[in-house]
Amino acid sequence: MKVHLPDERATEALAVRVASALPANTAGWTVLLSGELGAGKSTFARAMIRALGHSGPVPSPTYTLVEPYKVPRGRVYHVDLYRVSGEEELRYLGWTELDDGLRLVEWPEHAPGLARRADLEVRLAYEGTGREAQMLGLSQRGSALVAQLEASRQAKPVD
Ligand SMILES: Nc1ncnc2c1ncn2[C@@H]1O[C@H](COP(=O)(O)OP(=O)(O)OP(=O)(O)O)[C@@H](O)[C@H]1O
Ligand SMILES: [Mg+2]
Repeated sequence: MKVHLPDERATEALAVRVASALPANTAGWTVLLSGELGAGKSTFARAMIRALGHSGPVPSPTYTLVEPYKVPRGRVYHVDLYRVSGEEELRYLGWTELDDGLRLVEWPEHAPGLARRADLEVRLAYEGTGREAQMLGLSQRGSALVAQLEASRQAKPVD
């Protein structure tokens, strides 16, 4: 499923739709946010974390690697793998311990093995002055979520 995102607000609106399509219990879910520098990964992550009920700031996890949040539906871990390379370092940052929450991952390209264990990939790319998002289901439940988003878009087009 591809979505044209003419401006930052459109990126945020898509993130809100993804957040509301997630189940009540998001523990164990992994959402990958891929795309080059400036593609809108942090914009997407911030809007999703806010849509899940967090109202404070959403600092970049570039240096801390993981920023944890407590929201009504459980825990959210905002992860940035920009400074990580490979599976070994992923273990080092305690990846498996983040299993009790929703993992939102920027720069998943730095740990290619992650795609096998993730549910959804939001691939952001430049398109003119805006962006294009490609939504890919990576697990059964992730694919079901993409199908659900697609169906609701056909019922009520947003673009
Ligand atoms: N759909 C869009 N159209 C145009 N600009 C956008 C869109 N979505 C986000 N932006 C803008 O792109 C810029 C970069 O966004 P953001 O920081 O979210 O990207 P990023 O992928 O996290 O970048 P980095 O790789 O540096 O971490 C911001 O100024 C943001 O407002
Ligand atoms: Mg970013």
